[in-house]
Amino acid sequence: LSRPEPRPCVKGLRQSQKWSRLSGALKNKEAEILQTHTAVLFQAAVERAAELLRKGEVVALPTETVYGLAANAFDAGAVARIYEIKSRPAHNPIIVHVAGYEMVKKCVADWPRAASCLAESFWPGPLTLVLPRSDEIPDIVTAGGKTVGVRWPSHPFIQAVIRKCGFPLAAPSANPSNQVSSTNAQHVEKNLGDRIRLIVDGGQSQVGIESTVVDLTANPPQILRPGIIHHASLSAALEKCGKKIVEGPEMDDGPVRSPGRLLKHYAPKAKLLIWSWQDERDLQTQLEKLPAGRTHVIAHTVIPSGLQPATVSVIPHDMEAFARAIYAELHHCDDAGAERIIIEALPETDEWRAIADRLRRAAA
Ligand code: TXA
Ligand code: MG
Repeated sequence: LSRPEPRPCVKGLRQSQKWSRLSGALKNKEAEILQTHTAVLFQAAVERAAELLRKGEVVALPTETVYGLAANAFDAGAVARIYEIKSRPAHNPIIVHVAGYEMVKKCVADWPRAASCLAESFWPGPLTLVLPRSDEIPDIVTAGGKTVGVRWPSHPFIQAVIRKCGFPLAAPSANPSNQVSSTNAQHVEKNLGDRIRLIVDGGQSQVGIESTVVDLTANPPQILRPGIIHHASLSAALEKCGKKIVEGPEMDDGPVRSPGRLLKHYAPKAKLLIWSWQDERDLQTQLEKLPAGRTHVIAHTVIPSGLQPATVSVIPHDMEAFARAIYAELHHCDDAGAERIIIEALPETDEWRAIADRLRRAAA
């Protein structure tokens, strides 16, 4: 578990928390933020999160992909609060997070061999499987649909909370609907801190983009949302049970099957542009054609050094490191008041597909 920069703390209790405690009941003005970087803090945060979740509250928890906004998946009222907090459209179903096979089998009505094949290869981890739902899953979780997305996350904190609760957690990404996902506790605090009671700080999300979503109710199975576990890896795993997998439809025409596939999604406040440039001069020439406005360039291969009048940041040209860094960089640009963000175009390979997909939607 890697740690983010130390945060301002008052003997382990942040000022806002102290104030809230001193003034009686938590007022929901500012979220309580709990750290997890020692065994004692970790355990205390597990207890607190489980306590709130059992009462039907919504809490923000770390996962290895992005932070999640979690509630008891069996409690329709608690899940309704998630939609409210995120301003999430009612037609967008929520992924159910489990810890173990016994629990996942309570959530689904069928567990085909293909599910075992994929789960054995990639669980716990950044993969969501869409399967026929069980009767125990309330309608609100599936947005009224007949399927449910299930994932066994690998982050030790959310695993510990799920085990402590004994029920699965419905959790979308912890961000207002359609905005950039949160990859650390500060992102959650910035955007949702006044709407939830508790944010657990489990460090920087190690994957950094949302899970791969695979629909196993389709024949052949379809990738509804690309992720760090890409087509070639899924194919190799499914081969063992004689199945193939295909990329899902670019955009559904009829009822929305997976709104994460809608064109506009994951957007920062600034306008996002994806550009290629030969060298610094080429980039400078392109920049000069833009109207005035605060511009932020994110480069990874041809790194400019003296651009005018733009701010440049560099993130690694390594797919996994890029995925880990990109959302934090977009949050940073928004915080710095960027009006437009120019990202250097990505390699067009299967490996980079998930990141390219997110950026394309963010730029739409
Ligand atoms: O990595 C992740 O998946 C994160 C962490 C918190 O686990 N969660 C996440 O949730 O990204 P959310 O709600 O932001 O995105 C879930 C995506 C949406 O595009 C949703 O439409 C799709 O998964 N989805 C969920 N259940 C589905 C279902 N039954 N059928 C089709 N798509 C589904
Ligand atoms: Mg999301």
